[in-house]
Amino acid sequence: MNVEREKRLSAEAAAGLVEDGMIVGLGTGSTVGYLLPALARRRLSISCVATSPRTKRAALELGLDVRPFDIVDHLDMTIDGADQIAPDGWLVKGGGGAHTREKIVAAAASRFVVIGDSRKPVEVIRAPIPLELLEFGLSATLRRLGPALVREAPKSPDGGILADYHGDVGNPARLSERLSATPGVVGHGLFPPELVTEVLVGHGDSVERRTL
Ligand code: A5P
Repeated sequence: MNVEREKRLSAEAAAGLVEDGMIVGLGTGSTVGYLLPALARRRLSISCVATSPRTKRAALELGLDVRPFDIVDHLDMTIDGADQIAPDGWLVKGGGGAHTREKIVAAAASRFVVIGDSRKPVEVIRAPIPLELLEFGLSATLRRLGPALVREAPKSPDGGILADYHGDVGNPARLSERLSATPGVVGHGLFPPELVTEVLVGHGDSVERRTL
């Protein structure tokens, strides 16, 4: 298994879905690292919104037109990687800590295309589930969450504390609801199937395409 090749193939397949005139959300991570040059090579007339300072910097360096997300209110397509992809379309994202912005950008798009290598599909979603927490009342939030650990990482670009939930996942919908309803949780890395339009996974020399 050549993971880097699989990432590149899935990213290139996703770049091929982008059309002239689109406003495109750009995710974060190593797979998106292959998407950005593939998009730039197509020399389309597109505008982009980035989910992290890292992606913004890389996209600008490649000559892509990156717009602030306070002006744009709707995207045609968002393309992003994932840490886990379940058969029913639930995702875990946020290994790189950008999940809060990634969820906003995915939800704002007409199509959300998920890319990844063959290690990403899983039978069952498991912890860790990335979290972004408000610094105010952090100890109380952690106590309420149960098994969660703060990451040794810088704060998010929005000042949030990055952490991971390490308890049982069970039903992702129920856990997602509980995490969303916990005061102090700004965002979490469980993405529901309703957000996902298409999954492109590299397997060896080919890309497996699944529409949800
Ligand atoms: C960033 O916060 C994450 O959601 C990434 O999109 C996810 O972790 C996938 O990253 P890789 O493409 O590096 O595996």
